Amino acid sequence: MFKTALVTGGNGNLGRLVAQNLEAMGTRVVSFDLPGSEGPHCDPRHAVVLGDMRDQSLLEDTLATHKPDVVIHLASMLSGSSEANPELAWDVNASSSIRLMRHCLDRNIGPFFFASTAATYGPDLASPVALNTPQWPENIYGATKVAVERMGVYLKLKQGFDFRCLRFPMVLSPSAPAGAMTAYPSHAIAAAARGDTFVMPVAPDTGMSTLYLNDVTRSIVEICSAERAALTQHAYNLHSFMFTAQDLVEAIQSRFPGFSCTFTSGSPTDDLILRWPDVFDDSAARADWGWAPHYDFDATIEALVQFANAQR
Ligand SMILES: NC(=O)c1ccc[n+]([C@@H]2O[C@H](COP(=O)([O-])OP(=O)(O)OC[C@H]3O[C@@H](n4cnc5c(N)ncnc54)[C@H](O)[C@@H]3O)[C@@H](O)[C@H]2O)c1
Repeated sequence: MFKTALVTGGNGNLGRLVAQNLEAMGTRVVSFDLPGSEGPHCDPRHAVVLGDMRDQSLLEDTLATHKPDVVIHLASMLSGSSEANPELAWDVNASSSIRLMRHCLDRNIGPFFFASTAATYGPDLASPVALNTPQWPENIYGATKVAVERMGVYLKLKQGFDFRCLRFPMVLSPSAPAGAMTAYPSHAIAAAARGDTFVMPVAPDTGMSTLYLNDVTRSIVEICSAERAALTQHAYNLHSFMFTAQDLVEAIQSRFPGFSCTFTSGSPTDDLILRWPDVFDDSAARADWGWAPHYDFDATIEALVQFANAQR
């Protein structure tokens, strides 16, 4: 297993759990994240470096000081904030990531994991979306992720960089950021647990390919731990299940019978999710490194309900 892992975005939603998973395996974790993002990290060996991905000298110092043998690069502006400031998104998500990869290559550090997204594919594709489907995203978030994928693959082919990449679909998480467009399922469950009504930002039939947070964080550790020779692809799609807003309401009502909500057709969130694929072909991940989701729709709802009940 790894001795020391650098997790950029280590105070984020995925980063905290990835750090816990690695620490449970005996790896020392160094989190790199923005000042103000600090959160609880339980392992006494955990180190936190606060800074901006654009501060390349701090990143170089961090690599030199902590000498990680794996880098898990999760720091990113997400889709909403990227669209609000495309130039900054390019700087943080694309340029800074590419510079970090070059620093890692110079120091012979690898594996280097990059968190990409199903949003790299662009809208209106038929399901299941094959791994080699051309990536033509319409939003800047997806475009920055494609840029890093391309440079990662280039450095891998030309200079032997150990670049590993997963494209995640919608990730359901108990502690989803309030502003995330795809956070409405967790927020609906939290509302139901409080006895509140809820306005779904989507129409009843709207849904897309989804994974539960714990499967996502486990997949990151698994692909980093896989034998390099077993990875026949530069990047992998993952998928667990698709559910509609109506499926969600029925699942909530079976646990909170008094729950009621309204739906919203044609909102930006509805448009986004409606146009994203229902299924991504993840057969290469299954074949190469044994990927298999542990959480189906029911298990995911159960986990979210348990979390929401514990918060009451
Ligand atoms: N959650 C999803 O649905 C999803 C889906 C596909 C891909 N991803 C990718 O997974 C990764 C982690 O996502 P998440 O859900 O944990 O998001 P998150 O917002 O919780 O975590 C991202 C972290 O990056 C940090 N960050 C942002 N800008 C930074 C900067 N300039 N310098 C340093 N740190 C910075 C933030 O402070 C945050 O802690 C991201 O790369 C994201 O694009 C997430």
